[in-house]
Amino acid sequence: MRRVLLLHGPNLNLLGQREADVYGRQTLRDIDTAVQQLARREGVQVTIKQSNREGQLVDWIQDARGRYDAIVINPAGYTHTSVALRDAIAAVSIPTIEVHLSNIYGREEFRQHSYIAGVAVCQISGFGPLS
Ligand code: DQA
Repeated sequence: MRRVLLLHGPNLNLLGQREADVYGRQTLRDIDTAVQQLARREGVQVTIKQSNREGQLVDWIQDARGRYDAIVINPAGYTHTSVALRDAIAAVSIPTIEVHLSNIYGREEFRQHSYIAGVAVCQISGFGPLS
């Protein structure tokens, strides 16, 4: 069975309460439940983690070596700031998909640059919880 690590970055624990006009009313728990249901249907094993701390996310990416076939990450605010997350993804050579709930290219200029995109196999942005 393929193993996927899903990482949620900072402030995503507040989904449902946080800027609902941008991120919607679904909580992180709602999204994780839907992901687990989809994974069961697809025969994929998904491990889901959330952290507000950059170093913790780096540690989880490093620890994924030999344990996961793919990483899916919403780096949240670290998308636009973190060379460390980019380097961790590049270092582990695990195919990584970058996801965003909102369309980062339709928002403020500072959100339109991603440090992660260059090391991700693809980016999915703007489909809300469906991303
Ligand atoms: C986000 C977009 C980021 O710019 C923002 O900092 C987030 C969430 C998204 O999912 O749309 O926290 O990654």
